[in-house]
Amino acid sequence: MIQKSEYGYIIKKNDNYLHIVFYNKAIVRFVYTKDDRLPKSTQAVIAEKINIDAEIKDNIIKTEQLQINIDKKYLTLKVFDNEGNLISCDKNVDFNNRRVEKHHLYEKGYYGLGEKYEWINRINTSTTNWNSDVIGLTSLHNSVFKEYHTAIPFFIGMDESKSYGIFFDNTFRTEFDFNIQLNKSFYFRSEGGHIDYYLICGGNVSDIVKGYTYLTGRMNLPRKDFLGYHQCRYSYMNRDELMSVAKKMREKNIPCDVLYLDIDYMKNYKVFTIDSQRFNDFKDMVKKLEEMGFKLVTIIDPGVKKEEGYSVYEEGMENNYFIKDAFGEVYVGEVWPGDSVFPDFLRSKVRKWWGELHKSLLDKGVEGIWNDMNEPANFSTQSKTIPKDTVHINDEGERKLHSEIHNIYGMLEAQATYHGIINHIPNKRPFILTRSAYSGTQRYSGIWAGDNTSTWEHLESSIPMNLNLGLSGFSYTGSDVGGHCGDCTAELLIRWTQLGAFIPLFRNHTVKDSIRQEPWCFGEDALKIIRKYIRLRYKYITYLYNLMRESSINGNPVIRPLFYHYQNDENTYNINDQFLFGENMMICPITRPGQSNRMVYLPKGEWYDYWTEERITGGRNIITQADIDVIPIYVKGGSIIPRDEVREFIDVSIKSFNIDFYVGESGSYSLYLDDGISFDYIKGKYSIIHFQMESNNNEINIIYNIEKNKYTVPNIKIYIHGNDNTKTILVNNKKITGSCFKLKI
Ligand code: GLC
Repeated sequence: MIQKSEYGYIIKKNDNYLHIVFYNKAIVRFVYTKDDRLPKSTQAVIAEKINIDAEIKDNIIKTEQLQINIDKKYLTLKVFDNEGNLISCDKNVDFNNRRVEKHHLYEKGYYGLGEKYEWINRINTSTTNWNSDVIGLTSLHNSVFKEYHTAIPFFIGMDESKSYGIFFDNTFRTEFDFNIQLNKSFYFRSEGGHIDYYLICGGNVSDIVKGYTYLTGRMNLPRKDFLGYHQCRYSYMNRDELMSVAKKMREKNIPCDVLYLDIDYMKNYKVFTIDSQRFNDFKDMVKKLEEMGFKLVTIIDPGVKKEEGYSVYEEGMENNYFIKDAFGEVYVGEVWPGDSVFPDFLRSKVRKWWGELHKSLLDKGVEGIWNDMNEPANFSTQSKTIPKDTVHINDEGERKLHSEIHNIYGMLEAQATYHGIINHIPNKRPFILTRSAYSGTQRYSGIWAGDNTSTWEHLESSIPMNLNLGLSGFSYTGSDVGGHCGDCTAELLIRWTQLGAFIPLFRNHTVKDSIRQEPWCFGEDALKIIRKYIRLRYKYITYLYNLMRESSINGNPVIRPLFYHYQNDENTYNINDQFLFGENMMICPITRPGQSNRMVYLPKGEWYDYWTEERITGGRNIITQADIDVIPIYVKGGSIIPRDEVREFIDVSIKSFNIDFYVGESGSYSLYLDDGISFDYIKGKYSIIHFQMESNNNEINIIYNIEKNKYTVPNIKIYIHGNDNTKTILVNNKKITGSCFKLKI
């Protein structure tokens, strides 16, 4: 019954075929088709198929790690791990409706699925994926919509000791239903294509995220300076307004690295143009900003104004680059510029052209590109996007309907932008932000969560949203701090800035006509606190950068739900309002107005209150005080955490910085340093120093050794926290005095 195919195995039943293909020992793909050819994976997948040794016995495929039992009649599957645990078990596979139903076995949580306004655990919820331009009308407390800007058809099922992931690689509208109560089952299905999914097996959630990002790729190491604070508004309308924001940041001593220009910098919203009346001598303006330490990011939308004489429109028309309607005419929709046409990014020629168009901005010193409205948004239809029957042409000349391409449209634009920038400026890491995405977009771009509102509900819901994005392969994410739609208040901006300081993308942005939302807009008292937290962010830039590097290597998210490191503790499975920043710093934001204390769950182990340095034993809930200038933060005993000197902006050559050792269990940390901007690290220009802390009854011994020293290591000061003066401190086995000392490397 089971036949060997070129890659993997094939099983035929009447007119249906099941293909089974391995990508590594723990990742196996199941595809149901009407013929014996294995379809190509979508743009999401970058891993290669591999041959794996297997024992075939009747209807069973047994490898070193997995056993797959195939039902002869229905082609349903049971998958066991190598200890005989049933990991995944089909209830029903409906080929015609592209629907797979699986038994709910042991899972206590279902996580992932990217950007959704839902609690972190998806159990007993359902959702659909169809990239949509939604203005923040919904929240955790009022889930009217299911469809947001991204389609990430990937989830993780988990209990204390087992985990698996399923990536349903289908770009049509997909549906996931985890309402397990009725039938003790869950299902996923799609509106088109065929059933094509990957089962990723492993013990811990981190194994699954690692496997999923092995399959779909990882974020590239981002620029260090872009990890600072970003200030945006729709829009800074002219040169003076933008420059005055820049000056105020410096005058008021607020660290800030990135400023944005929203759509009003263009001439009549025509992409790749600049309104030179409002932004005279653009290049000179960017240079002045650069001298003050600012990087400028400009927005680029995919909608191209339909206007004779406008070069982007004319070039695209001449070369047949735009999406057509069902009758073969160029499809005209409506976006900010009025009547607009949409590049067909499915073709590599079009992507190349689009990428090259960025030269005009890059040559003027623009350092990053913000891809918005790329679902694509369209004001002229009820669906708010372009019709499903519009036509794309791929590189092989095949026609593809928009219903299949829609969910990858934004990803293809980000890909075009990424290559455009890198081709023009090869030795600088590109910064791109996209609103719309499909699985794999993390290889090109970060994500911000689109148009949220200035409400407490949206502050709160941004936490599980960003955590689930992290579990879905996206480490570089953030939601607009202060909220986009509506008017912010002092208290909301303070609390949101406290949270944003620990979210990978830290950007304050708001809509046209809302009240102003820059840090100084709510008076001196508010400014003082907001400044304190932006400065706190700058203390942990090197720590954050190291987390970003880790993510670029193994997919570990920067911010993590508690169960990421405490999977055997069931109390962590539904925590939505606390998260880990890396492994050892726990952030507990305030999500309600007027609130000045909150409950915090401390997992087992010893924790430090970051502010008071009080040592607290975990494995319980505590109540903690959180006056308006405090966000509760806890640091795990045994942590080793680098801490920067705060600067106005991140000039990458740091002269000195600190490392905090929090005495407790033994701990280790590897510090990575490079120039933060170029790709020279790929050629080996970086340094790595390993630190270890051993703590026993009488001694704390700090051992360090240098693995690589190809990038200047600054002076490092070491601080010991939590020593009650009873222990002797040794560094590389040599006794020292005091709780702070300099390290010479
Ligand atoms: C969209 C974006 C928003 C931007 C606005 C104008 O609504 O989501 O961030 O400010 O368009 O470009």
